[in-house]
Amino acid sequence: AKEKSAIFIIFGGSGDLAHRKLYPSLFRLYKSGFLKDHFAVIGTARRPWSDDYFRETVVTSLKDYFDDSEEVMTEFAKHFFYQSHDVNDSEHYIALKNLASKLDDQFEAGHNRVYYMAIAPRFFGTVAEHINSEGLKASGYNRLVIEKPFGRDLDSACELNGNISKAFPENDIYRIDHYLGKEMIQDIPNIRKNNPKLEQALNNKYVSNIQITLAESLGVEDRGGYYETAGVLRDMVQNHIMQIIGAVASDEPESEDADVIHKNKTELFSSLKELSPEEVDQAFVRGQYDTDNLGDLKAYRQEDNVAEDSNIETFVAGKIEFDTDRWRNVPFYVRSGKRMPKKSSRIDIVLNDQVKELGIRPNSVVTLLIERENGHSILINGVNYKEAGQDFIKFPEEAEFDKAREAYESLIIDILSGNRVHFTLWDELRSTWKYIDTIRQRWDSQTPEFPNYLSGSMGPDASEMLLERDGNSWVWDD
Ligand code: BG6
Repeated sequence: AKEKSAIFIIFGGSGDLAHRKLYPSLFRLYKSGFLKDHFAVIGTARRPWSDDYFRETVVTSLKDYFDDSEEVMTEFAKHFFYQSHDVNDSEHYIALKNLASKLDDQFEAGHNRVYYMAIAPRFFGTVAEHINSEGLKASGYNRLVIEKPFGRDLDSACELNGNISKAFPENDIYRIDHYLGKEMIQDIPNIRKNNPKLEQALNNKYVSNIQITLAESLGVEDRGGYYETAGVLRDMVQNHIMQIIGAVASDEPESEDADVIHKNKTELFSSLKELSPEEVDQAFVRGQYDTDNLGDLKAYRQEDNVAEDSNIETFVAGKIEFDTDRWRNVPFYVRSGKRMPKKSSRIDIVLNDQVKELGIRPNSVVTLLIERENGHSILINGVNYKEAGQDFIKFPEEAEFDKAREAYESLIIDILSGNRVHFTLWDELRSTWKYIDTIRQRWDSQTPEFPNYLSGSMGPDASEMLLERDGNSWVWDD
């Protein structure tokens, strides 16, 4: 691994995301040599912690994930520093700036800065503006990393984007969608490139429909407060599901250049077929979980920090269409829900009977499994593609998740390398928010009958009916 150098400034450095995702990923990068001598991490948050205390928290959370010796972890943690910080206080940014340049000298970090927003979204704009106005930017690169949610509708996303783009050019903004860090999603361009028959089949001549399922067995756990402001439509469809569609359905880029790849994706999203309010009722189904059939689990409305009469949805199923020559009239059925029978993240490409022209058995289904938990990563008609008796798919053995990298790990390497392929661009967000807003507004104008599905079930019956109306059915049906 080629060693990278940078000073990371993590806003929200004492928080959950930082400890659960970032520090473990940085540690993996440290062990694999991407990070070695020339980096430092400054954690900032309101609490007045010492460097030593901060390092202890880092080592403690690493122990949850690794069995390396404490020595190695302590060595790693020597690169960590803490600066308490009030996001509105200009002087605190000066203190940060001074600490960062001191550490840059000490670790010879190449004057590169990664500003990582692991804080509540309402602070993103303020922090970005202060970084700029207080002169934190160093003479190497200055990259801003933003976690979701990026706004809660088109207006708020525009406002947020306005604020951060006053301080950072689009080219230096890395908006994380952690699904774009997952191996299967990153492999899709290669799968398409290396399997010409499959690529030839990916259009309305040969595809009956495409199904994307992001099912979870857990409920909202301790995130009721956030979830009440979101719902699964915003939490999973606007971002992860749309990005998955982008990977499967965008035109193949003529080059591997980030701009070209994004151009094709942006074009696809800008051709999302708009829904009228009445069409929303036909095309989208929402649900909210109840207890399970034994009455053991909490219904959503009983969860902590959730209103007793909450109308927030924890399940969505919908039919998305595109107005392009390639995809006109092909339904993209999408669904995502909490408290479904099990965790399953998959893409099912349902081919029609015309595919026999391509030498593919009629009505074959190609399934791309996104999660490691799901075992073999590509199925044809439900069977590992190698055993399926059809040879239109080849996939390098070693890509089958043996060495699966954490999504965050690979995204951090990209940030340090200046590779923006696996991040979300503003133009993509604009189109997807616009599409989502129509659904949200229609839903907000009506009162749903919630709860309407049992925990551990496949969601409300209307989800099955959505496909039955078109003469189709869900491929994944526990
Ligand atoms: C997050 C959502 O973006 O993705 C969570 O906020 C969801 O609600 C999670 O649980 C699912 O991610 P993964 O990687 O576990 O499929």
